[in-house]
Amino acid sequence: MALSPVITIDGPSGSGKGTLCQMLARELGWHLLDSGALYRIVGLAAQKQQVSFDDEAALAELAAHLDVEFRAGIEGEPSTVWLDGEDISDQVRSESTGELASKVAVFNAVREALKDLQRDFAKAPGLIADGRDMGTVIFTDAAVKIFLIASAEERASRRYKQLISKGESVNLAALLKDIQKRDERDMNRAVAPLRPADDAVVIDSTAVAIEDVFNQVLARVSSALELSS
Ligand code: DC
Repeated sequence: MALSPVITIDGPSGSGKGTLCQMLARELGWHLLDSGALYRIVGLAAQKQQVSFDDEAALAELAAHLDVEFRAGIEGEPSTVWLDGEDISDQVRSESTGELASKVAVFNAVREALKDLQRDFAKAPGLIADGRDMGTVIFTDAAVKIFLIASAEERASRRYKQLISKGESVNLAALLKDIQKRDERDMNRAVAPLRPADDAVVIDSTAVAIEDVFNQVLARVSSALELSS
């Protein structure tokens, strides 16, 4: 499968995956795949084109024709998402788009349509892959697999701060409920449910600073790359 090294970071939303992946991609100078954004973009495209969220074949057709690029942000800046040459980062990351993504992600045909696109991101010098099934389905032979978790309350609180800082009006209790509902859907779906790969290292970030998680993962990556060279 992938010739260049791949590090997979899977876990539920709000576990710190996105931040960790950006830190790793920046530190190593590697490519970044935000696979959640692909599902979000399919959800957005379906809404725009009024494709029914029950129409698996039509959703898969949308998924098969995405022209997407991720650019790692410079120090202190978030990465950006580009569709057909347009920066759609803000729209992609909104809470309502996450809900659309979770709906399209249950379909096998949509997941199949996105497989090759995701694997094409594995290029030299290496790839940091952020998602739910990076280690279990997409990059099964990744050099290092991390499964990052945090309590639902902690994740809701992080998301709350993030959205408030962006000027979105949100309610913490409603956010927690949404997170629990989405976890439930992601963990219990028939296709590629959210779970750690057998060879993944599970890290709980609830009470750990993201810098500490970063250092821990970087140490694992360094030793894995040394072992394989
Ligand atoms: O990580 P995120 O919040 O951007 O993901 C949005 C949704 O997409 C989430 O509900 C689960 C789904 N998803 C998925 O099924 N597989 C992935 N590899 C990434 C995301």
